Amino acid sequence: MGRLTGKVAIITGAASGMGLGGAQLFAKEGAKVVATDVVFDVLEEKVKEINADGGEAIALELDVSKPESWQAVVKETIAKYGKIDVLVNNAGIHIPKGILEAELEDWEKVMSINTTGVWLGMKAVIPHMQENGQGSIVNTSSIAAIIGGTADAGGAAYSASKGAVRSLTKHAAQWFGKDNIRVNSVHPGAVYTGMVEKAGIKSQEEMGANYESLVPLKPYAGEATDIAHAYLYLASDDSKFVTGVELPVDGGWISN
Ligand SMILES: NC(=O)c1ccc[n+]([C@@H]2O[C@H](COP(=O)([O-])OP(=O)(O)OC[C@H]3O[C@@H](n4cnc5c(N)ncnc54)[C@H](O)[C@@H]3O)[C@@H](O)[C@H]2O)c1
Repeated sequence: MGRLTGKVAIITGAASGMGLGGAQLFAKEGAKVVATDVVFDVLEEKVKEINADGGEAIALELDVSKPESWQAVVKETIAKYGKIDVLVNNAGIHIPKGILEAELEDWEKVMSINTTGVWLGMKAVIPHMQENGQGSIVNTSSIAAIIGGTADAGGAAYSASKGAVRSLTKHAAQWFGKDNIRVNSVHPGAVYTGMVEKAGIKSQEEMGANYESLVPLKPYAGEATDIAHAYLYLASDDSKFVTGVELPVDGGWISN
């Protein structure tokens, strides 16, 4: 029996990086995975691979910043599986512009996906978890919500958006504990994913070399599966007495 057998899990941003790693691992652990992303063609391919590997997953298009998009995904999930046990609010973007360089449009784009998207996801899913009598929500923040410096890779809105996810998680943990809904945040450090590849970095080792003086553990940058295992712990009943925590997965960066 897997650690998520019988559970229905929605994961956002599942076409790439940590979201994809989470979808693959959750399927291996017996979850029915509702894999969602705004990039649908890639998502469909990845979901086919999960099913070919013996997992159970469906692909649904979702723009996390749009309430109507959430309504459609939740409706389809309930129609197919009858309940929602887990939501991983993983989707996010980064714009490497500081306070002086960013335009209002940059700020609003980052906030609408990284923060508003997390709120909209919880708003859409929590009533179904209440009906179900339990649930686990995992929100992806960042160590940029905890420290400054190079942790936010120069993104002012990014840093603010992830700080909001950290506090919104604690708000939700307090208000919905009575419904047996747990809400926790994961705070990745430097992790080699599609987001980083798009920024021109060619390998995990190349990324890690930038953080050698900050991160105690080799190879100084993590990989998607490091975060997927944190998602698994918080999604599963292994963490049934854990809510409102912030779990850094950063090779020890913030212990500096
Ligand atoms: N990679 C890092 O070093 C790092 C560090 C800290 C936090 N994070 C956070 O981890 C999460 C996952 O990032 P990743 O590194 O795997 O990035 P990634 O770019 O590889 O994957 C992110 C996914 O989110 C999707 N997405 C973007 N906008 C969306 C939208 N509006 N609606 C739905 N999906 C959308 C993308 O299409 C993509 O598939 C993000 O929240 C990111 O901010 C990443």
